[in-house]
Amino acid sequence: DGRFLTLGIESSCDDTSVALLEGPRRVLSWKISSQIERHAAFGGVVPEYASRMHLEAILPLTRAVLDEGGVADPAKQIGLVAVTCGPGLMGSLLVGVMTAKAYAQAWKVPILGVNHLEGHIYANMIDHEDLKFPFLCMVVSGGHTEIVLVRGCGEYQMLGATQDDAAGEAFDKVAKALGLPYPGGPVIDRLSAAGDAGAFEFPDVLHNLEGLDFSFSGLKTAAINQVNRLRQKGEEIPLEDFCASFQNTVVKTLIARLEQAVRLTGVKSVAISGGVAANSAFRRAVAEHEGWKSFLPSKMFCTDNAVMVAAAGCAAWQSGRRGGLDLAPDPALDF
Ligand code: KG4
Ligand code: ZN
Repeated sequence: DGRFLTLGIESSCDDTSVALLEGPRRVLSWKISSQIERHAAFGGVVPEYASRMHLEAILPLTRAVLDEGGVADPAKQIGLVAVTCGPGLMGSLLVGVMTAKAYAQAWKVPILGVNHLEGHIYANMIDHEDLKFPFLCMVVSGGHTEIVLVRGCGEYQMLGATQDDAAGEAFDKVAKALGLPYPGGPVIDRLSAAGDAGAFEFPDVLHNLEGLDFSFSGLKTAAINQVNRLRQKGEEIPLEDFCASFQNTVVKTLIARLEQAVRLTGVKSVAISGGVAANSAFRRAVAEHEGWKSFLPSKMFCTDNAVMVAAAGCAAWQSGRRGGLDLAPDPALDF
């Protein structure tokens, strides 16, 4: 009927998600099955549990998305199956990729593998029709902290990346030390609202770091040590102040690198994505930054989801990228 429908599948970590997209950005249906509660007891994602839960969730989720999206005959109506093929957890990726291949083969529909980072970048396209190339995108999540110059679909230049921990990982580990539940990022965000960001001092994260790279393990360790020191002294930790100070340090670091990237490239369109892009202090700092044209994905598309994967797949297809049933998951997929 002339409409180009993309079925998107995301299963790289601990969220199973399926989406049905019409054209580049019209969401017909999307669903997500989160495993957070199951993993929370362990304080992090347990890969073996993750893949088993993906396996249980993915077929009913796809069925529900097709139903809700009004797709009665996928072989006729679906134009493309797009699936995250890496980077991520091997067992988790495998479930998504094999499911996508099975559907593509059964329906005789083309399939494209999408890099998870490319997906995060395209989260910005869903809400912003006015986002044009070139732009800078900072992907900050539990597994990534990267600044990418996006020149076009498939034309990505990595300007900087973390040399150790991702920003989200630092949030999660510091939250854990404070006795807060997993994932800690959103909890720290919430507590920070009532805190004094100047109450605690943390080391300068970017000290001695060349170029646009990041390092968060020093900050993470400094924060955890400070928690332990206060505990040993029997002092009560003012949670709100501690969280606000820590969050402020991370946000200042991210903004400083974005400012450098803008200076270096002359590109003033700045987008963000990934779970940490849901952070309210970070969003405010980006949105209100002078001299930038800022783009923020809605919070639900910051964290892992299949809509961004469908959007990236659709754009790649339209720009001429082609793939086949030899698609294989790659946990360490390069960008
Ligand atoms: O993109 P995502 O769902 O999964 C990965 O690809 O990693 O990101 C999850 C990460 C977690 O580390 C979580 O703590 C963090 O994003 N996060 C936040 C917030 N919401 C999620 N960090 C800070 N503030 C938030 N509001
Ligand atoms: Zn992600």
